[in-house]
Amino acid sequence: MNENNSAKLWGGRFSESTDAFVEAFTASIMFDKRLYKHDIAGSKAHAAMLEKVGLLTEKEKQAIHQGLDDIQIEIEQGEFAWSVALEDVHMNIEARLTQRIGDTGKKLHTGRSRNDQVATDIRLWLREQVDAIQAELQRLQRGLVELAEREADTILPGFTHLQVAQPISFGHHMLAWYEMLVRDVERLQDCRKRINIMPLGAAALAGTTYPIDRAYTAELLGFERPADNSLDAVSDRDFAIEFTAVAAIIMTHLSRFSEELVLWASAQFGFVDLPDRFCTGSSIMPQKKNPDVPELVRGKTGRVNGHLIALLTLMKSQPLAYNKDNQEDKEPLFDTVDTLLGSLRAFADMMPHVQVNAKLMRAAAMRGFSTATDLADYLVGKHIPFRDAHEIVGKAVGYGVEVGKDLSEMSLDELKVFSTRIEQDVFEVLTLEGSVAARNHLGGTAPEQVKQQVIQARKKLL
Ligand code: ARG
Repeated sequence: MNENNSAKLWGGRFSESTDAFVEAFTASIMFDKRLYKHDIAGSKAHAAMLEKVGLLTEKEKQAIHQGLDDIQIEIEQGEFAWSVALEDVHMNIEARLTQRIGDTGKKLHTGRSRNDQVATDIRLWLREQVDAIQAELQRLQRGLVELAEREADTILPGFTHLQVAQPISFGHHMLAWYEMLVRDVERLQDCRKRINIMPLGAAALAGTTYPIDRAYTAELLGFERPADNSLDAVSDRDFAIEFTAVAAIIMTHLSRFSEELVLWASAQFGFVDLPDRFCTGSSIMPQKKNPDVPELVRGKTGRVNGHLIALLTLMKSQPLAYNKDNQEDKEPLFDTVDTLLGSLRAFADMMPHVQVNAKLMRAAAMRGFSTATDLADYLVGKHIPFRDAHEIVGKAVGYGVEVGKDLSEMSLDELKVFSTRIEQDVFEVLTLEGSVAARNHLGGTAPEQVKQQVIQARKKLL
């Protein structure tokens, strides 16, 4: 064996040492050391299984477990010397184990490969992250429900095409955001099922000649079951792609919330006031209070979308089984999790403290003829066909634009010009309150419905 490769755990067949640049270029330790805890957990379970089937003695297993526990402490106290020459987290820890406990450490890798080891580590790590993400999603959902309850009776214009459409309850709007997150939680839970499958035992690609007990290892690690095909087990990164797709959808939702908050916080809308501690100022314009948090979250959506494309492209056309390409799965995945968790945390912290300016929302709803549909519906109630009613109201709106009056601000005489069927009772439907209260069915914007939905949401969130 070449002297310089003697430290490498795979150095046996090599006659010249690795090029210094190639060594650094192929190493993953700079980023995969993040998996240390899951690598150690996987190794401990593997060692326990090896003992169960008689491949390690009780004493050897004990020594390995103790050694790994000590290494974990070293790492957590910042005393572990990570080595680029040892390439990745797996070989760094294994080499240190042998250094600490002697030759017994060399038995740990019996019946396994880094190929099934790394796939196991990422799955263990991602499973934990998924649970943390779900907790943050639900914290944000609780904040939205709280705000929905507080502002169920607050009316703002609902928009289509960003043009004033119909008045809605602010609580209803918050519950629309909440619903997006309901689907996100479902998607996350579904994707977790496919993360929670154990590759260990696949070894390099074909399985192993030892009488291993994969069900036992899976049970120790809390996996649902061992993977059914060893080739697939070491090569599959669908779970990472799928998770990142779920993350991209969540970020897309957050970007939509962000966009609305940025608009609403502007002087032109003035619908909401974001807490100062979630905003920053300008170094030149003293009056500025910028909605940085939603802007940044909106921007970060791009990174996660990029990671999804990166992972899809990484897997495209890969032949079975493991290929070094897959080492490139980690950075996009890590950054996806960090970006998503950070964005969710910012939103979950911020939303319950958003202040709503009911007066300005009302004024905006009054300006845009938002009760025009209500007037048309009223005329239908007076036996005018909807198409004709639509035409009549269109004319009334045209008049309103001309004289600068909302429908509710016109006198009965003014309204009667457009249809003699209009009576005094029209004003009940032309008010904003009348308009929202009338949409009183499942899924409608009536405050009464919003309050019902709040109760339902609270039950689900328990
Ligand atoms: N660092 C590698 C990765 O992240 C570990 C597996 C390497 N396996 C191999 N045969 N080179 O994928």
